[in-house]
Amino acid sequence: MKEAQLKHLWWQEGVIYQIYPRSFQDSNGDGVGDLQGIISRLDYLEWLGIDAIWISPIFSSPMADFGYDISDYQGIHQLFGTMEDFDKLLEEVHRRGMKLILDLVPNHTSYQHPWFLESRSSRDNPKRDWYIWHDALPDGSEPNNWLSVFGGSGWEWDETTQQYYYHAFLKEQPDLNWRNPEVQEAMMNVMRFWLDKGVDGFRVDVMWHMVKDNQFRDNPPNPNYEPHMATYEQLIPAYSTDQPEVHDIVRKMRAVLDEYDERMMIGEIYLPIQKLMTYYGNENNGAHLPFNFLLLSLQWEAQLIASNIDMYEGALPEGGWPNWVLGNHDQPRITSRVGAAQARVAAMLLLTLRGTPTVYYGDEIGMRDVPIPPEEVQDPQGLNMPDLHLSRDPSRTPMQWEDSSNAGFTEGKPWLRLPDYFRRINVKVQQDDPFSMLTLYRRLIKLRHEEPALSIGDYIPLYSDHQVLAFIRKSGEQRFLVVLNLSHRPCYFKPKHHTFTGTVVLATFPERENTTITESISLGGDEGILVRLDS
Ligand code: NOJ
Repeated sequence: MKEAQLKHLWWQEGVIYQIYPRSFQDSNGDGVGDLQGIISRLDYLEWLGIDAIWISPIFSSPMADFGYDISDYQGIHQLFGTMEDFDKLLEEVHRRGMKLILDLVPNHTSYQHPWFLESRSSRDNPKRDWYIWHDALPDGSEPNNWLSVFGGSGWEWDETTQQYYYHAFLKEQPDLNWRNPEVQEAMMNVMRFWLDKGVDGFRVDVMWHMVKDNQFRDNPPNPNYEPHMATYEQLIPAYSTDQPEVHDIVRKMRAVLDEYDERMMIGEIYLPIQKLMTYYGNENNGAHLPFNFLLLSLQWEAQLIASNIDMYEGALPEGGWPNWVLGNHDQPRITSRVGAAQARVAAMLLLTLRGTPTVYYGDEIGMRDVPIPPEEVQDPQGLNMPDLHLSRDPSRTPMQWEDSSNAGFTEGKPWLRLPDYFRRINVKVQQDDPFSMLTLYRRLIKLRHEEPALSIGDYIPLYSDHQVLAFIRKSGEQRFLVVLNLSHRPCYFKPKHHTFTGTVVLATFPERENTTITESISLGGDEGILVRLDS
């Protein structure tokens, strides 16, 4: 892809940082993170070089799914603070030249949302059609075989009105009926409410779920299902997700954003590359960034990753901007997937690829998944399928700030436990350590900001084998070579048709820096280098 001549926008040049608000910083001792806590840590994020913060939901909610079940889209949950706290947060973020992205959850509400309370009150309530209601089959069973992502049927029987309603997630999270124009208008007004306040964009929850088949056809069985997988995987969600009409909705949401200056929308979409691309919209009038989760799901294998990077780059529509993600609150942490040493290589990959990187809180200090004893499990996905090890709690534990009680996260009892080694792995000890993960992240981000080749430059694939992944980033005369050893064993990189000379400017083993590169390059296990090439 050629570097576009156009001016790049903040969400293209910048680095996004995801905060899981329950776990970032508590300010009032109740053991749960809050908005004042986030405000108190903004200096840290500025120091790290972050450009935009995405905060998982902070709205009124019964917390059946930790805030992804919203009962008032325009209210702040008292656990997190007040609307005044929010306004202060937005002001403080903007004062530092950063942007704020909120989590919009339009697919479903809480069962306690007034819309649903009305909808379920009677069959002729004006809001009945705001949700997905369906008669039982003649034998009383569910209208079709659709499953809930969190286990069991996707349908819940309502005794009062004698119909089923559909919920892709918990029964406490009924799905809205996006085919109803009143629902569309109501949610667009929610967007306007926050945009009028000045928020810079939204991460849109489960965007590909928003429209369902209007004939409610059964989903087909998944031939690749295995018993260790979530029960939801038994079927292919061919009729309950990714319906063609979803793009009309996404376009309408985009039109709302376009009523304002430089606002943006990220879509949470777990789909194969070709389908993901459709969410950019026909004329780039869809999501600005359909989240690219390739690095979360692929085996950590150099050739496989290289080919997928190329497939992704090659499939991007004209004008579609790429993005990359290494972790989020639904997935195991990268350090736990690939190991601490290889996580440094992963950081270098994330921050040197073309496209907006999103950093999950704590990954910058190499936080690991924390084992949570069964009796302390909080996540409904874990509780509903206890034998499948699907709890998301381990990657949602409190941020490890320092070597004091509860790592400086709270003065109370943290809602999820911290690991006992937090005294070794925390921000404070890493901040001044030239060899720490935090220093690596900070330096990578800084270099990315300084060098257009790394932020907005072209991506040129170069080489991969079973250990090495190598590519070039280029802007004008400036070229960087990135060579990553995705294995734990030493290897050589001997490009056949090229000779490179240059200087290592950043390395996962910093001792390598300032050395020069000529011809073949040998790398240690878990080593990655970033080379400024001679022109
Ligand atoms: C995706 C969110 O990331 C996840 O945490 C949540 O449980 C589901 N959507 C349901 O909202």
